[in-house]
Amino acid sequence: MNTMFRSLYSKFTVIIFFMFVVLAGLLAYLHLYSTHMYQQETQQKISKGLAEHIAKKYKLVENGMIYNDRLDYLFHEFMQLNPSIEIYALDPAGKIVRFNIPKEKVIRKNIDLDPVKAYVNGKAEYPIKGNDPRDVNANKIFSVAPLMDGDSLIGYLYIILEGERYGNIVDRLMDNYIAKISTWVIVAVIIFSMLCALLLFKYMTRRMSVLSNNIEIFRQSRFSMLPPPVTKDIKYADEIDKLTVSFYDMANRIISQVNELKQIDIHRRELIANVSHDLRTPLTTLQGYLETLLRKNHELNDQQKEQYLKTAVNHCQNLATLIAELFELAKLDANETQPKLEAFSLPELIHDTMQNFWLLSSQRHISMQTHFDNNIPFVKADLGLIERVIRNLIENAIRYTPDGGQIDIQLVENKDSVTVQIRDNGCGIAEKELPMIFDRFYRTEKSRQESSGGSGLGLAISKRIIELHGSHIQAFSKINEGTVFRFNLPVVHTG
Ligand SMILES: Nc1ncnc2c1ncn2[C@@H]1O[C@H](COP(=O)(O)OP(=O)(O)OP(=O)(O)O)[C@@H](O)[C@H]1O
Ligand SMILES: [Mg+2]
Repeated sequence: MNTMFRSLYSKFTVIIFFMFVVLAGLLAYLHLYSTHMYQQETQQKISKGLAEHIAKKYKLVENGMIYNDRLDYLFHEFMQLNPSIEIYALDPAGKIVRFNIPKEKVIRKNIDLDPVKAYVNGKAEYPIKGNDPRDVNANKIFSVAPLMDGDSLIGYLYIILEGERYGNIVDRLMDNYIAKISTWVIVAVIIFSMLCALLLFKYMTRRMSVLSNNIEIFRQSRFSMLPPPVTKDIKYADEIDKLTVSFYDMANRIISQVNELKQIDIHRRELIANVSHDLRTPLTTLQGYLETLLRKNHELNDQQKEQYLKTAVNHCQNLATLIAELFELAKLDANETQPKLEAFSLPELIHDTMQNFWLLSSQRHISMQTHFDNNIPFVKADLGLIERVIRNLIENAIRYTPDGGQIDIQLVENKDSVTVQIRDNGCGIAEKELPMIFDRFYRTEKSRQESSGGSGLGLAISKRIIELHGSHIQAFSKINEGTVFRFNLPVVHTG
């Protein structure tokens, strides 16, 4: 199909055009028909007594018969007076017996008497139409009078009021000034309303086509570019506005999801790069030591050999830890780890965990202090997983605090939960790095330079564990002043 006719507007224009043409035709026909009927009605009413008057004036009946000479005289006079009036004499059965027009023009032999009688009785509604002697199919308005001799019916004087010249309805109306004017008025009104309808529809479709253009731009930009919407006061919003709003909602969601997917993809690449790097580094070192051992076996003394082997085992240990951590994180991410909730005492757990760091902290002269009552209510959580979190946080605190620093572990009892807070007075984390420390493999610039050994998975794992418990972990820090980590756990409700 031609593209021109594809738009809603052009389709509507075609439909409206045909609709209005049909409507105009119907109206014009109705108008012409009713005007015609009205004219006939008036003409017939005006000529009501015409036949009777003529019959009386010309004394057409005598001795029980129609007086043909007088009839002929009458015909002759009317021929000169008004040739459009046709006069017929009928017998009582309706047979045409005499007339004033050329013989070959009279086709009928009989006239149906029903309309004639209705006219005479004055019972029918005007216009009453009787047979046209000139035409087998047509009926015309007439005036009729019974010809009587005393009480007996001799025949009828039948006068056709509209002659041959006015046979055609259109000819007749083209002669009529009022009919002509009102026909033009109808045409004008119809054209005007058609233009109004088109204008209105243009207004509607314009907004539709703006929307559909925007959708097309959005589609062609592969769901990345969205032209600004034509905003409107929502109070007056109609269906098209609602459609626009819904589309923009949907489009914005698509854009944010596409961005999210892109972000995830970037993350995934980084992750793979980091994993490969972190796996390769200890592996290369390990290989280096083992190869040296093999190659220089005879040159090295026992102490050196042991030193080399110890370093190799250390790296092996690091690798094993890293792989274990990655595996753990993968399981947490895949929601394979479901926390096994049980009631336990946080003070006990913290004391137990601190035991493991006793040696390390005393070596570095870091003091660890607790700030809580031992009768803090039990919490409901997975003991193993929470232990993992606390271990990570204490390990970090020790690792990122210089010798002689201090670590404070605090528990605060709330209405439904207990807050765990681990504070250190170490190197702190720069404000711009703070939001990233929970990302996997993220290590601050500083800790990376110092190569203090971490892989950057500890906090990512801790975060996932706390989230699995329906809570969240927060970090506050000031560079060179220290860092605080804080999370809540629900208390066990004792009935
Ligand atoms: N208490 C802290 N003080 C200062 N910086 C910290 C502290 N805790 C964490 N960070 C910073 O956040 C980074 C991420 O910590 P995370 O525990 O995830 O990794 P990591 O300790 O380096 O390695 P891992 O815990 O996997 O052995 C650390 O590398 C460090 O730069
Ligand atoms: Mg850590």
